[in-house]
This record gives sequence, structure tokens and C-alpha cells, in this order.
Amino acid sequence: MKLAPSILSADFAALAEDVKKIEEGGADYVHVDVMDGHFVPNISFGAPVMKSLAGRTAVPFDVHLMIENPDQYIDDFVTDQTAYITVHQEACIHLHRTIQHIRAKGVKAGVSINPATPVSLLSCILEDVNLVLIMSVNPGFGGQKFIPGALEKVRELAAIRAERGLDFAIEIDGGVTLQNAAEVQQAGVDIAVAGSAVFGADDVVQRVKDFKEI
Ligand code: DX5
Ligand code: ZN
Repeated sequence: MKLAPSILSADFAALAEDVKKIEEGGADYVHVDVMDGHFVPNISFGAPVMKSLAGRTAVPFDVHLMIENPDQYIDDFVTDQTAYITVHQEACIHLHRTIQHIRAKGVKAGVSINPATPVSLLSCILEDVNLVLIMSVNPGFGGQKFIPGALEKVRELAAIRAERGLDFAIEIDGGVTLQNAAEVQQAGVDIAVAGSAVFGADDVVQRVKDFKEI
């Protein structure tokens, strides 16, 4: 299972140093949580912060847009280092168009669903996405408790993927810890996001290594 530490829980005044630590630990992606205060009840940071990290690390960016009207901002997050841009199903009126927009920029496209949104609503877009992000907390804040029902969604998605012969990655985000990481992996998750469980550790480098060992 790949690990994408979320810099939402990093020290914003020492972001470059914190990102260096996860790189040293072997993180696969830098998870970039963008919040607008509308789609979610919190504001984090925007593209300039992400861009200032480009070049400070070789770890690719995994961008999670928790914003309304994502189409307006997608281009801002396209860099040579951007691996994925993920938008929320709940925020996109024309989801297919938005996914095409991301892919046309040469970036892999992801779609995310909140805890109350069923997997079935993604049925018509699964052929077109590179990643599905299952929220295991209500988006907006780090450090929340894992919602176990998310694992059932992961299993459902993995079964659909096999049945339809698709190859999108399955990512989970929210409340992932060293304690539940093995269960998350067994359910079929390819990429786990972890914020507070990584940056809350006394030794961040070692914590990333511990995750990677699971
Ligand atoms: C929640 C964000 C998550 C969050 C994860 O809205 O999308 O990426 O930072 O943080 P933890 O791992 O602390 O739940
Ligand atoms: Zn996220």
C-alpha cells in the first residue's frame, strides 16, 4: 500500500522541512488538502503554497480539492510534479467534463465521495478516472475518527473494478493510523492518506517507515 501523508497536519511555518522528512521516510505522495471554506467548513491553503514546495522535494503531489467550482482552479494545480488532481463528486455539476479537463492537462484524475455518498453514484464515471478517493471522515479537518463504513465502500469498489476490468487506484482519506492500516490495506486500498498519524509523531521519518512496513 502506498502512503500519502497530508501536509494539512504539518507545520505550515516549516513546510519544506516537514516534506523533506516524509521524503526521507519513503512517502509515495505529498497529499495536498485544499479547502475553500464553502465546500468544507475550513480554509487551508491554495496553489501558491503547493508550488512553493515544488523543487524542494521530488515526491509527487496528490491534490485533493475540497472546493466548490473546482473547474475554475484546476489549471493552477498543474505542475510537472502533480500526479493526481481529485475533485469531489458532490462539488461537480458536470463531473465528466471536469475529469476530462484534468486529463487533458496530462494529470491523472481522481473523484472523491463523502461518507454519506454511495459508491453507486460513481458508476458512470469509473471508466474515466484514474483514482477513486473514499472519505473515511467528513472532510474539513485532520485528526478525526475513522468511519468504519468506508471499508465496505472500498470492498464494493474493488469488486466493481475487478468485474468491469478497470484499473483506477483506490485511495482512503481520514483517520488512518498505524492501528487500522493493515485492515485498510486488506480491504483493497492502494493509497492511504495519513495526516495527524504522520505529522503528530515525535519522529516523523520513522513514522513514515512504520507505515510503509505494513
Ligand atoms: C480531511 C482531509 C484529510 C485529512 C487527513 O478533510 O482530506 O486528508 O488531512 O487527516 P487525518 O489523517 O488526521 O485524519
Ligand atoms: Zn485529503
